[in-house]
Amino acid sequence: MGVLAGVADQLPPLTPLTFVGYAAAFIVTSVVVNVLQQLLFKDPSKPPVVFHYFPFFGSTVDYGMDPYAFFFKNQKKYGDVFTFILLGNKMTVALGPKGNDFILNGKLSEVNAEEAYTGLTTPVFGEGVVYDVPNHVLMEQKKFIKVGLTVEAFRSYVPLIVEQVTNYFNSHKDFAGKSGSVSLLKVIPEITVFTASRTLQGKEVRDALDGSFADLYHDLDNGFTPVNFMFPWFPFPHNFARDRAHKKIARTYMDLVEKRRANPDSKSENDMIWNLMNKTYKDGRPLTDKEIAHIMIALLMAGQHTSMSTSCWAILHLAEQPDLVEALYQEQKKVFGDNLEPLSYEKLADCTLMNFVIKETLRIHPPLHSIMRKVKSPMRFPDTNIVVPEGHYVLAAPGCSAIDAQYFPNPLKFDPYRWEGRAPEEEGEKVDFGFGVISKGTASPYLPFGAGRHRCVGEQFANVQLGTILATFVREFTLRLPNGQVSVPPPDYNSMIASPTAPAAVEWVRRK
Ligand code: HEM
Repeated sequence: MGVLAGVADQLPPLTPLTFVGYAAAFIVTSVVVNVLQQLLFKDPSKPPVVFHYFPFFGSTVDYGMDPYAFFFKNQKKYGDVFTFILLGNKMTVALGPKGNDFILNGKLSEVNAEEAYTGLTTPVFGEGVVYDVPNHVLMEQKKFIKVGLTVEAFRSYVPLIVEQVTNYFNSHKDFAGKSGSVSLLKVIPEITVFTASRTLQGKEVRDALDGSFADLYHDLDNGFTPVNFMFPWFPFPHNFARDRAHKKIARTYMDLVEKRRANPDSKSENDMIWNLMNKTYKDGRPLTDKEIAHIMIALLMAGQHTSMSTSCWAILHLAEQPDLVEALYQEQKKVFGDNLEPLSYEKLADCTLMNFVIKETLRIHPPLHSIMRKVKSPMRFPDTNIVVPEGHYVLAAPGCSAIDAQYFPNPLKFDPYRWEGRAPEEEGEKVDFGFGVISKGTASPYLPFGAGRHRCVGEQFANVQLGTILATFVREFTLRLPNGQVSVPPPDYNSMIASPTAPAAVEWVRRK
């Protein structure tokens, strides 16, 4: 103590200026130590580390500004597997079809999604579902969802979606008159939530969105932000609003379930709440009302941003290529007759070009650019000596192989016709993780819906929703980009999902 007191006596008094001096010395020393460590202590058995000056921050800014540019730049430098530092966490990226397979089909003993996502998702979805439960419970919950998404349900959804979209076109001020300009980022989120709620979520939830539920929904949605990956508990005002909104929304769903239980004869629609109310786990336990409420919130959130961003990008690309809008209109006439009979689930499948437009949109703009898992035991990358240590996060980016010229020539060109005659991407080994047989996707460079045990269960619903929305747009309008704009806007990576940069405007002219 005496010695320390003596040293302290010899230091200059702590004024603001000396404090800045100490801080600068600390930063310089830590940068020097960090750089020397990277240059002098390379471990060939571990993935190479992306060079960075600042410990803790590492490559956070570079990755956050443009993840794809970051991945491709470092793939060139380090190969398909490399580690970067993201706010103190070691993130190991594995690219290419082999990298996708390595992560998405990783064993349960090796990779864990719950630990990667629960901080972000559990405050929004609620407890007892998805990433707040062990994986085998999630697999059962996914099965409950999947069996509710039947062909019969889809058949009933198509006219409901058409009704929501046409009502929107006829009542929204931005679609008033014979022609106009509209910001897709303003209208598509509403169209998406109205159509998903009217179908999957049920009429009561759709009606509630015309009232105070809409504000609550926005507050909950604001909890779904990248900063919450790392700091979900931080007392930001948006986190308090998220927690308040979650409680009220979950209560709304639970009241709804109670009301329906009290009146089972009122079942008239194929929505997900009715489906979940009749499901039991393998041990015979039925879902609690709270679990139903939380699964419904999870579905609302899982489908909203993904479908919204896909619709926006698809419509922007159509506006960029008005010939494509015309070709889609002619396809509508071919499939549904010159008088354009009402859309139906069966006939939507015959709209080949439209389905190619959706596929091509998801190839260039998959909503999830980074799929993460926490590493639970060391993982050797196949055919190499590289071992990813326990404690790292692994990050798959199937969007990279989907825009790699070796799999898709001229990869950044939006060309739906490239899918003509191309063999189905996901054939090959099949597997059942408990929610139905899926193909493993092992060799596919195109995995917008993921692969393995966490693969999307909403794909068919998304296709029905997107196809119906796009067909209704094409039947109603011709589209083009605003004057002077020759290509679609760049992606905005500030949000969880890579949506187009605002305002993402298109000009429309009503056909009739
Ligand atoms: C999982 C993409 C729409 C529900 C996933 C995953 C991807 C994905 C890539 C895997 C995530 C991971 O491995 O960590 C998409 C795309 C969509 C879409 C591109 C639309 C264009 C939907 C919709 C729903 C939904 C509409 C609900 C109806 C789910 C669920 C999971 C999932 C429940 C499982 C999560 C897990 O097992 O960890 N989705 N999704 N998705 N998605 Fe989707």
